[in-house]
Amino acid sequence: REAKRRLVRERIREFPDFPSPGILFRDITPLLKDPLAFKAAIDLLEDYIKASHPKFDYIAGLDSRGFLFGPSLAQRFGVGFLLIRKKGKLPGPTESVSYTLEYGKAELEVQSDAVQPGQKVILIDDLLATGGTMRAACELMSKLKAEILDCLVVVELTFLNGAKILKPFPLHALLKYD
Ligand code: PRP
Ligand code: HPA
Repeated sequence: REAKRRLVRERIREFPDFPSPGILFRDITPLLKDPLAFKAAIDLLEDYIKASHPKFDYIAGLDSRGFLFGPSLAQRFGVGFLLIRKKGKLPGPTESVSYTLEYGKAELEVQSDAVQPGQKVILIDDLLATGGTMRAACELMSKLKAEILDCLVVVELTFLNGAKILKPFPLHALLKYD
């Protein structure tokens, strides 16, 4: 397990001043490019969910990089995958929540019929920075009366205190950077 974690960490690189000055951007492109490292990340997320959540209904991915990890994970558990999208992408009735993130402001949406009240959902994204995006996703799913079991990310930037913003929603990160 530690070897897998190390492999994942080795495949995340840094770009200073992207997308704006002062931001040190963690880039997961090498992780996606290396099938062993990519599989290691999914394995670790699967292990964590197995140990923590015996039963749930859906995995919900955050637009856009949550879509890279969520579907593989959902397939491993035989559950469906839900889309939490940036504003204006989803047809039909939707709920929306606006939020701020490390380098901007945006709005997330989910289709109103995505879940039935009380269904259990695990959220996933690639990275937690300020926590604004994940927080908004939790609020969205709460509007639909889903039960949020957990918020998963591959990378948590701990110095931005996103986990605090997320509270009382739980967070699990494969890797922490400070
Ligand atoms: C990034 C990242 C997270 C979010 C984290 O996505 O993938 O979703 O920012 O930031 P926060 O914790 O400060 O809210 P981004 O909004 O850049 O969109 P993308 O996934 O479409 O590239
Ligand atoms: N990397 C990738 N996505 C991000 C980052 C980062 O450092 N900060 C906020 N979103």
